[in-house]
Amino acid sequence: MELVGEVLMGLGLTLLGLGLLVVLYTVVYRTCIKGKECRNKTSLRGKTVLLTGGNSGIGKATALDLARRGARVIVASRNRKLGESAACEIRKESGNNEVLYMSLDLGSLRSVRAFAEDFLQSEARLDILINNAAVICEGESEDGFNVTFQVNHLGHFLLTHLLLDRVKQCSPSRVVIVSSDVHRKGTIDFQKVHKPVEGYLKAFQSYCNSKLANVLHVRELARRLRGTNVTFYAVHPGAVHTNALRYSPLWVQYPYLGFTWLFFRDAHNGAQTSIYCATEEGLEPLSGSYFDNCRRDDTCPLGRDDALATKLWEFSERLLGIAP
Ligand SMILES: NC(=O)c1ccc[n+]([C@@H]2O[C@H](COP(=O)([O-])OP(=O)(O)OC[C@H]3O[C@@H](n4cnc5c(N)ncnc54)[C@H](OP(=O)(O)O)[C@@H]3O)[C@@H](O)[C@H]2O)c1
Repeated sequence: MELVGEVLMGLGLTLLGLGLLVVLYTVVYRTCIKGKECRNKTSLRGKTVLLTGGNSGIGKATALDLARRGARVIVASRNRKLGESAACEIRKESGNNEVLYMSLDLGSLRSVRAFAEDFLQSEARLDILINNAAVICEGESEDGFNVTFQVNHLGHFLLTHLLLDRVKQCSPSRVVIVSSDVHRKGTIDFQKVHKPVEGYLKAFQSYCNSKLANVLHVRELARRLRGTNVTFYAVHPGAVHTNALRYSPLWVQYPYLGFTWLFFRDAHNGAQTSIYCATEEGLEPLSGSYFDNCRRDDTCPLGRDDALATKLWEFSERLLGIAP
């Protein structure tokens, strides 16, 4: 009898401990991890949104929110099966039938050009462009560039260039580029930033460089297009639990698995700053800025270097063969 009592007491204490842990975790998640929510109810009825990398993670959560607001949403990514199934899920969850998949591989400049041609033929409007796709990958693209730098910066640079007239025609319109806080670790060495690298650590440095390039791209776009009613925003989504490391070596993935699941925000919360920059009224005076947690934040000094932004713009044009 005494033994049963002790076992029950032990069980009770264990359950109490677990309950306290769950409560503690919920409080920590809500106060420190979840981040700020975009609370506006801006309707996007009649507007068209193009979002790269919308088949998973932050991109998919962003697409779902914008579809719920009534936008026509084009999800552009490289894997047709994944892209079509994501578009289908978003249609079902949002009740909005105007969510479509279009094929785009940012790692191939040929694909970017073909995509832009198809898009301009089939879509009359482009009110919001969200450059969200990214990879951390070693090796060379089919165009001979560093894959990470091409997918994250050069491919998006070309896409934005090819679609910019349509964005201007639909002004007031916006371009949101998803960067990252790790842009602070980035550098732009024009001798080698575009050159392929081997090994994960070097690929990660290329990722940081490409995220700095995203911040500088936004800054230069805002400067060049001042007065056109098209505005530009760079975003850090926070530390988000997604499949972003799925192409990384296992020694990188495994230590992160439990940690990210517990201590990173989910994709819905990670999408909030992109949604905010795409929909919040009155942000226009902050065109060219960097946003974190639904508010403007400072970039690192290199991210505010206008001469570097202009040099990167001209360098990217030369690499892409689109010099004016
Ligand atoms: N997760 C974080 O903690 C975090 C932190 C800071 C910034 N970010 C930024 O947030 C953005 C979204 O990342 P995520 O975490 O949601 O990662 P994710 O789930 O891996 O999403 C990346 C998306 O990009 C697509 N993509 C990759 N290569 C492509 C290519 N060559 N052409 C077209 N699409 C391509 C992927 O498609 P596939 O499925 O075909 O690969 C996927 O849809 C990225 O810009 C990332 O740098 C994320």
